[in-house]
Parts: sequence; structure tokens; C-alpha cells
Amino acid sequence: MQVTIKVNGEDRSAEVEARHLLVRFLRDDLGLTGTHWGCDTSNCGTCVVLLDGEPVKSCTILAAMASGHEVRTVEGLEGAEGLDPVQQGFIENHGLQCGFCTPGMMLTARALLDRNPDPSEPEIREAISGQLCRCTGYLNIVRAVQWAARHPAQQPGGQPGEQDGQAGEQDGQAAARADAPAESTGRAA
Ligand code: FES
Ligand code: FES
Repeated sequence: MQVTIKVNGEDRSAEVEARHLLVRFLRDDLGLTGTHWGCDTSNCGTCVVLLDGEPVKSCTILAAMASGHEVRTVEGLEGAEGLDPVQQGFIENHGLQCGFCTPGMMLTARALLDRNPDPSEPEIREAISGQLCRCTGYLNIVRAVQWAARHPAQQPGGQPGEQDGQAGEQDGQAAARADAPAESTGRAA
């Protein structure tokens, strides 16, 4: 069957079997490997993408079910003016560890901030509660989302943390890892 899904603002079509999962459509048919695939049993949440703005586990959705709808993946987080504040927040606060859960975490954070620009820590933790981080580093992930809430928009060409001088302020950690931008944009498969 033919499916057409608007992915990151662009209509993408493919001929697929009726049982074809959305995660496979994204990764195998479109080559968008920033969406990670872990358990395949709807437990880990690493495959989360946004379907019409809402976080969904793309291993639980058929590509056919998403046909005619809009999907946003980690590759679609970065805008014309640069990284999404959520991506910058993960870099600033060392929310990136092994990076496996990161794309789904960032997309869930983006959906949360879109409906609630100033979430409390419990609200952040509840939002990401369906997603497992095997690196057990939830503290820095929560900090990353809090950072993004404090920096709703980055200025074109702006430097990380320059708006309030708070880069790394919370824990005194060293500068962000060199691979953090690639990990946070889905360019590191
Ligand atoms: S791969 Fe989809 S929830 Fe684990
Ligand atoms: S950063 Fe490794 S699984 Fe979350």
C-alpha cells in the first residue's frame, strides 16, 4: 500500500506492507536514523517521534496509520535559526550520555514546552516517564529541559549560554562534548 506522511515538513511517500511500522518507515525507507529503535515492545520509548505534535512510540504505530498526518523526528528539531533550545539545553547540561534515548527525550521535551512553557520538575519527570534512559542520567535530562524553558528562543548566531551566563552553572562541569551537536541533531546514527 502507498503511504504519504509529512515528515519534518515534507511529504514523503513509499510503498509499504500494511504491517510496516512507522519506525521502520522512518529509518529504513527514509534513512532518518536519528530515531532510535530499542525494545520493539513499546517499553523503552527510545523510538518516540511527534505525530501531529504529540509524542508517540513509533514502534507501536503502523506507517499506514500515520499516512496523511505530520511526523517530526529529531532531524526536524533544528530550525533555520539554529538548534532548538531543547537541543542546546542537552548540550549545555550534559543531558547527552550515550545518546541512545536522547532523540526521543528531546522530542518529548519539545512537545511538553509547546503546551507548557514553564513546567515544574515533577511535570518534566512525568512527561518523560515513558522513556527509559539506560545511562540512568535523568538529572541532567531534567536540567536540560529546565534550561530550554529558560531559553525559549536562541538568537541567530548566539553562543550557548550567553543570554544569562548560565552555561554549565549548575554543576560546574567542563565544556560540552565535541560530539554533542551531532548526537543532538540525529546526524550521529
Ligand atoms: S523501540 Fe519503541 S518503545 Fe522501545
Ligand atoms: S543517554 Fe544512554 S540511554 Fe539515555
